[in-house]
Amino acid sequence: MKKTNPTPIDMPEEITDSTDARIQGTCTWISPSNIALVKYWGKKHEQLPCNPSISFTLNHAHTRTQLSWELLTTPRREHVAFEFTFHGQRKPEFEQRIQRYLDRMSSEIPELSNYQLHIDSENTFPHSSGIASSASAMSALSAALVDMDHQIRGLEPIHPDLSADTAQWISSLSRLGSGSACRSIFPHAALWGQTSFPDSSDLYAIGLEHILHPHFYHFHDAILLVDQGQKAVSSSAGHELMENNPYATIRYDEARSNIEKLLDILRTGALEEFVLLTEAEALSLHALMMASSPGYILMHPNTIEIIHRIREFRTSSGLPVCFTLDAGPNAHLLYPEFARKKVLEFIQAELVPLCNEGRWIDDHMGPGIQKINQ
Ligand code: DP6
Repeated sequence: MKKTNPTPIDMPEEITDSTDARIQGTCTWISPSNIALVKYWGKKHEQLPCNPSISFTLNHAHTRTQLSWELLTTPRREHVAFEFTFHGQRKPEFEQRIQRYLDRMSSEIPELSNYQLHIDSENTFPHSSGIASSASAMSALSAALVDMDHQIRGLEPIHPDLSADTAQWISSLSRLGSGSACRSIFPHAALWGQTSFPDSSDLYAIGLEHILHPHFYHFHDAILLVDQGQKAVSSSAGHELMENNPYATIRYDEARSNIEKLLDILRTGALEEFVLLTEAEALSLHALMMASSPGYILMHPNTIEIIHRIREFRTSSGLPVCFTLDAGPNAHLLYPEFARKKVLEFIQAELVPLCNEGRWIDDHMGPGIQKINQ
């Protein structure tokens, strides 16, 4: 079908100025990936988690998304009109998910279907490799959409220092795009899901920065890229497998109990307990996948070798380092700032040779989503 160029329709006089954000505008947001400590695995209804989760917000592994918009001549389309480029190239394989998300967003932001959107995204890390790329991508896009909503309603653009209400709204819209995305908004650490913790909710995440013991204030995450290819099973398919997983109920109880323990650990700085709980959670996630039908083994031989090396290093050095895993073969080595010098030597000597092409990402906790000044 021939595409018609979007041109302004009969506008009320006060908004005929094409520099008016109600006719066209742009904004750019950066959003990081996050690494879950207590894992979200299993969902119900509209992207609600079967158990609460806690994550550390990362910094270098992030998505940068520029959203531009133009008012259409033929408003109120059935589907939101958009073009999507990834590192400047069209990516048809991402379009269906983005279309579904934008169409869902049009019930939250009713004006959306009156605009042609241009979305350009870039990642600093390989997508679909087990690093939560949907978390950074969907949260960056949600932040940009909320910013656009402010601007097309003639409100002030969103201030980079987000208000609590705006952060909550971005988080809940992010959740609709990808569950884990709702945690990426907040600096340092976030909790998603209803728990005894004040203001926690299944609908959005909340920041945990204010409860962190200094040991957890500048935690590092070395993301060890064992395999940079596509994941064997998508997270969405993995969540679905939990519906018939025989251990599902036990798992949800275990996760709820681990959340309470982890909240205490984060407050008190109990690093030894942190190490045990974090590794147990990672292994439970993979055990659940193995026990699904069909069962998946997502660890590669080098993932297992990395796990052994990390445990040996912990014993020999006495340092509180540990691993965690996402739903893929890459391993994350978590460690506090005071261990950094020795850990970097260990990574270079023992872990880099186990990574695909020696690649790893030297990441750490970061500030959450950020607006880029144009
Ligand atoms: C293993 O958030 O990617 O990384 O909601 O279907 O987009 P969707 O799934 P997603 O699942 C993440 C699963 C996990 C654990 C976690 O991040 O908590």
